[in-house]
This record gives sequence, structure tokens and C-alpha cells, in this order.
Amino acid sequence: MKILALVGTNAKFSYNRILLKYMKKHFRQMADIEIYEINQLPPFSVDTPLSEQTEVWKLKQKIKTADGIIFSTPEYDHGIPAALKSAVEWLSYKTNVLSHKPAMVVGVSYGRQASARSQVQMRQILISPDCDTNLLPGNEVLIGNASHSFSKDGRLINPEMRDSLEESFTHFVEYIQIFEKVNEEGLEMSVKQPTISEAYINFPTGRLTLKEVQQIFSTIPFEIDLIDSTDHFAWYSDKPNREHVRNVASLGETVQECHPPMAVPTVMKIINSFRNGEKDVVTRPLWMNGHRSLIQYYALRDINGHYLGTIEFTGSVEYILNLFENGAWSTDGNTGASKHEDAGNDENAEDSVDASTGASESSDDSNDSTDNTSAVTATPVEEADGSDATTGASDAGSVDANDEEADATTGASEN
Ligand SMILES: Cc1cc2nc3c(=O)[nH]c(=O)nc-3n(C[C@H](O)[C@H](O)[C@H](O)COP(=O)(O)O)c2cc1C
Repeated sequence: MKILALVGTNAKFSYNRILLKYMKKHFRQMADIEIYEINQLPPFSVDTPLSEQTEVWKLKQKIKTADGIIFSTPEYDHGIPAALKSAVEWLSYKTNVLSHKPAMVVGVSYGRQASARSQVQMRQILISPDCDTNLLPGNEVLIGNASHSFSKDGRLINPEMRDSLEESFTHFVEYIQIFEKVNEEGLEMSVKQPTISEAYINFPTGRLTLKEVQQIFSTIPFEIDLIDSTDHFAWYSDKPNREHVRNVASLGETVQECHPPMAVPTVMKIINSFRNGEKDVVTRPLWMNGHRSLIQYYALRDINGHYLGTIEFTGSVEYILNLFENGAWSTDGNTGASKHEDAGNDENAEDSVDASTGASESSDDSNDSTDNTSAVTATPVEEADGSDATTGASDAGSVDANDEEADATTGASEN
């Protein structure tokens, strides 16, 4: 279980930070607690340009992947510190990153009131419509008299406070587990299973069940992501070992929300070039996760050419390049036969018969089966006009791979 814990102050010395460090160590067998310093964030302003919001974006990504959030608040003038309020404003303005996220409030102060008043304020903020967290009710962790409640090496030495902390944190872990279970069941109903199990989609070229559609996307060796025509991250193919790891929490976000701010201009440039018809495809060969990969962005259009969105194809091309480098496509000029005559030894090239139709690639496979020139591995057919046979898109619209450094659907840079 991953929990993100926000130190509710920008002070260099903080008892609230000491508390979170203690919790991280003390509860290490129950959860992986990552401590986050809010002093990395700029002060909140609606006018801050996107290019200065990189740290905000990074924090939002951490929150998306966390199972729960702890806010540890000092008490300043009976309320929460301005720096903490500013951080929460970043997390609630034009974003729903906190929505339904399990949250817990703890706090330390010098006085006997033990941050009780700032905690009440923090709780009010966290249940506001723009925060909308699943706030752990009750379970007040009130650590007052800070300078005497911790040992010099940062242990919480007040036994009553320690008991209260242990009890409340255990409740928080159970609380998160309840939401995880509810989400899993919901996910099984809504995502893992096609919603209309017996429905067919009738394509002009055949029909598919929803289950088949889903499994095709999970099986093909490329992953696909879609930014829809309104520039929202709408869908990604559910595939094991994706090159780009996606998160369902990002679905529905705008291009601006789901990309690092620095990548947004590049991404928008690609998307706008598709939207205005200037380009149909952008191609980027690059190294990813230690192997050669290909990323291709395509303008998705309806049959009348109207822009429907941008799709991103990503996949390792190691296997294809290895085939190529081992001569899989080299042909003998005289016979037209593949030079790769031992292709039959390759488990993947054993049989030149088309597995779905049973048709042989050989024009003459009923003839003498000992004739090596007819039992060939398929030689690729060259497209007459050099265009992409699947989409009809011309490569003329592609840009130099070096021009573009951002992932157009999520904006993650590969560099
Ligand atoms: C501007 C300011 C206002 C404060 N107001 C209160 C207060 O209203 N109630 C209280 O118990 N402590 C108050 N304190 C003392 C804090 O509780 C104390 O500084 C505490 O250690 C802050 O938490 P930290 O160590 O995590 O920064 C205030 C401190 C500052 C700097």
C-alpha cells in the first residue's frame, strides 16, 4: 500500500515532519509512506503560467498513484499554515486529483490544544466540493507539547499519543482497503468485462464481440492511446508490460493535465497539426526501456475526414528488426525465393500458411512440396504509392524524430 504524506509546512525544522518520519518507520510493515515537502511548490496563483507548474504536476502524479494521503498540519493562528493551504489550492483548482482519495489528518503543535483547531479547518477543506476526498472520519491524532512528546532521535515517546496514532493509522489502512475493494469490484463490472457481453459490433468487414475487441487490443504487439477530439485522454489499450505505463486515474484529463507542463506545447503542436489537416502522422523511432521502439501518432478521422482525435501507437520493434537483420526479407533476384530458406527452422516462420484463412502465401502450394522455391516465407508486397496501407496516411506528413520529444498522448518525455 502506497501512502503519500504531506509535511504541512515549509519550515526547515518541523515537528510535523518528525512525526511523518516516525510514522514512515514505525508503520513500514503496514504501508510504504513517501514523505512530500510542500516547499517544492510555487505559491498558488491562478495566474502562474503552466511552464512554472512542473512541481505541481509531479505532485499530482504522485497523488494519482498513491492509495491514500496523509496531511500533517501544524497550527498557525488557530488555522493551517498558508503554505499548506496553497498546496491544497494547487490540488483542487481545475483538477480532481484529490477526488475520492482516502485522506487522513494528523498534526503536531507546541501547545496543549495540539493543532486541534487547525485539524478541524483541514478537515473542512478536504471535504469541500473541489477537494472531495474520502476523509477518514473521527480518529483525531492530536500531538501537543511537541518538544516533550518526541525523543531527540525523533521517536514519539508519549505512550497515550503513540497508542492513539497506532489505532488511527490502523483504521486508515483498513479504510483504504475498503475503498480498494469497492473500486476493484466496480472495475470488474465496468472495465474488465465488456459492458454488453453479448453485443456484436458489425463492421463492414465482419463482426466482433466486445470481448474480442478488448482482447485484440490486449494481444497485438503495439499499445494504443487516444486523445479525443476535445483534447481529453479518453482511452488506452489494456496490455501487460506496456512501454508507457498508464493509469486509469488519468482518464478524462485534459492534455494539459496529463502532461508535464514543459511537454504541453509540443503535444499541442502535434494535435493541432492533425486537427487542422496539416499532418496525418508523426513518427518517432527511439530507444525505450533498453530496446528499439517506434512511436507513431496518427490523426484519427471519420470517413468524411473529420478529426476524431489523436492515437498513439507504441511498441518494441526489436523482434521485427532482428528478423530484418537476419535476412528475413532478402530475396534471390533469379527465383524470387527468400534467401532465408531455413526459415522453417524459425519457430515463428515454420509455416507459410495464413493461420486465419488457411490460404497459403505460395501461389502454387499444391505443387511439388519438395520445391523450395514455392514453399517460401512470404515476401513483402511493396505498396505501389509508398503510403501506409492501413491508414492511407502518407509519410510525407511525418516530422523528424528529433523534432519531437514528448509523448503526444501523455506527454512523458523519453529522454
Ligand atoms: C505564525 C505562527 C502561528 C502559530 N500559532 C499557533 C496556534 O495558534 N496554536 C498553537 O498551538 N501553536 C501555534 N504556533 C506554534 C506552532 O504550533 C509550532 O511552531 C509548531 O512547532 C509548528 O509545527 P512545525 O514544528 O511542524 O512547524 C504558531 C507558530 C507560528 C510560526
